[in-house]
Amino acid sequence: MEKDRLQIEKQAIVTNRRCQRNYDTSRVIPQEHIEHWQYLLKNSPSKQDEIRFGAVIIINKELIEKIHKEYSWGFRRKGNDARRNNQMNGSCVIIFGRVIPTDFEGDYEGVVRGEMLSREYEERNLKHQEREMGIAMGIVAFSAACMGYKTGFNTNLYYNAKGEQEWRKMLDVDKTNPDFRPCVGLGIGFPDESLEWYQTRDNEYLEADPRESDLSFKTMLEDYPGVVKKFPEPILNYGPLSCDPDTHELKERPSLVKIIS
Ligand SMILES: Cc1cc2nc3c(=O)[nH]c(=O)nc-3n(C[C@H](O)[C@H](O)[C@H](O)COP(=O)(O)O)c2cc1C
Repeated sequence: MEKDRLQIEKQAIVTNRRCQRNYDTSRVIPQEHIEHWQYLLKNSPSKQDEIRFGAVIIINKELIEKIHKEYSWGFRRKGNDARRNNQMNGSCVIIFGRVIPTDFEGDYEGVVRGEMLSREYEERNLKHQEREMGIAMGIVAFSAACMGYKTGFNTNLYYNAKGEQEWRKMLDVDKTNPDFRPCVGLGIGFPDESLEWYQTRDNEYLEADPRESDLSFKTMLEDYPGVVKKFPEPILNYGPLSCDPDTHELKERPSLVKIIS
């Protein structure tokens, strides 16, 4: 029993380390699992038990399609052909974002929050937010992978002139949580069994509108919506970075992770 559990967790961490870039979108995740992840997110650990992030768990197909198609364009690294982050097309997509933190403990009394009035406050807050969001998304991704789902993270949410306000409206939190600032997406789902995890049939790319100025200095399109075009190849490969592309053998990274007995 114990051995089986360790094996499941080993497989799960490899799933999480990889990025699933295709899904069988016809399959549905049971509501019990969705609610389980909601429970994990609501109870994930935080410094002094404050709340510093929010998460929107999406299983609505139309909304996932919209996010995937229009809101997942990646940055231009070289050239002018941003691609989608297809890990955002799972049967479930979770959007993690910053919120103005609670102060149940009264640590920040007297500080005007949400504005850069206290550098110390902002810096500490950012660190805790990043840590706590990271812990929470790690826990959910690991849970999902232990259940046998595939997962993929994405941090590209704003490339094609999309803003926080548009995100909030789309997620229907603009009135209830006007401080919610999306920053990471996590796709969870079933793989398209006809492809490897790092492949996608989405061969569209986004070219900047020729009128978009200062392109060489910009990391995002700001003034005009980009123009969608298609590569001739029907399947695109992304990496894989964590494995040998031919044998799929896991790469051992030179991390400092050691045991002192
Ligand atoms: C916190 C986090 C953020 C990530 N953001 C992105 C991203 O914005 N775009 C992307 O394509 N992959 C993103 N990834 C996926 C990693 O790039 C991926 O895990 C890595 O390439 C190894 O997976 P592979 O072997 O499938 O290439 C992210 C992963 C993590 C853990």
